[in-house]
Amino acid sequence: MNPEDVRTVGVVGAGLMGHSIAQEFAVSGRQVFLNDVSEERLTDARERIRQNLEMLGRSQEVDEVESRMTFTGDLRTAVENADLVVEAIVENLEVKQAMFRELESICREDTILASNTSTYLPSQIAEATRNPERVVVMHYFNPPHVVPLVEVVGGRDTSPETVETVRDLVVSQGKKPVMLKKEALGFIANRLQAALLRECFALVEDGVAQPEDIDTVVRSGLGRRLGVAGPFEVFDAAGADVWHAICEQLMTDIESSTEVPPAIARMVERGDYGVKTGRGVYEWTPQSTTALRRRIAHAVEEIGRWNDGE
Ligand code: NAI
Repeated sequence: MNPEDVRTVGVVGAGLMGHSIAQEFAVSGRQVFLNDVSEERLTDARERIRQNLEMLGRSQEVDEVESRMTFTGDLRTAVENADLVVEAIVENLEVKQAMFRELESICREDTILASNTSTYLPSQIAEATRNPERVVVMHYFNPPHVVPLVEVVGGRDTSPETVETVRDLVVSQGKKPVMLKKEALGFIANRLQAALLRECFALVEDGVAQPEDIDTVVRSGLGRRLGVAGPFEVFDAAGADVWHAICEQLMTDIESSTEVPPAIARMVERGDYGVKTGRGVYEWTPQSTTALRRRIAHAVEEIGRWNDGE
């Protein structure tokens, strides 16, 4: 299948990720069906897509983009004519497997079934299906309408054609695909983020620094470089000799626990999920949440211009 053959896309799950993934496909001229079990989420999704486009200075496109979108609580309506389905529901393997089983029973045989899972292997999700060759991971980054990267991960039985179609589709949308050479839990980016977050929470737990200070260190220091140079480029700029000395001192001292960081477990127990609930590491109001989203969207766009033409 060529990218232009993907004309109709079903997105399942209209939350933080799903609404924005659906927006991306509608902006690129495709017919999009956005499905959720919650009517409230579907209503919110329509409003957020409008806000996202306004934030990007594309208010004049709102009506046209909306005209290509159908918001529906009925899964069959959303996926029966789809060339591609992207699943963005809760991060739970059994729930995702049940969804893929159902998708397979509704969709055409040649429909590509993609998951936006943050961690699971495509092979684990495909275990529930009869045709694992069309199951693939398309891992977007929050917010998908701004961040270009999409990790494309094929499983044990995913066909090379499926991976190639998804890769070409991502390129045709002006986004940046990275294909893993083999599947790994959490792919590349979430393995890196998890390693960083484990150390961040350990520094707070051990009383070394406040969350604000750690955010300042990243925002004003290492994050500034990472927007334009990868960790290996930064490594080479510093020198293997320097990093050898740093590793000799630090490798036995940095956090290596194999548990979920206790602070994250406590937050989940309290129902403090971050901006979704108004409290996470910090307190959030609707205003401060919008300000954060705006700051990220504008900065990511700006950094994108510095990376253009590479
Ligand atoms: P979310 O909680 O904002 O949205 C999930 C949506 O799925 C909800 O609206 C829920 O009502 C709906 N849903 C649940 N079961 C459903 C079903 N059976 N049929 C239809 N809709 C159903 O979650 P979020 O953050 O959008 O995450 C979705 C997926 O994307 C997860 O797998 C997550 O790991 C992944 N992801 C999340 C990122 C993030 O930054 N939050 C980044 C990249 C991937």
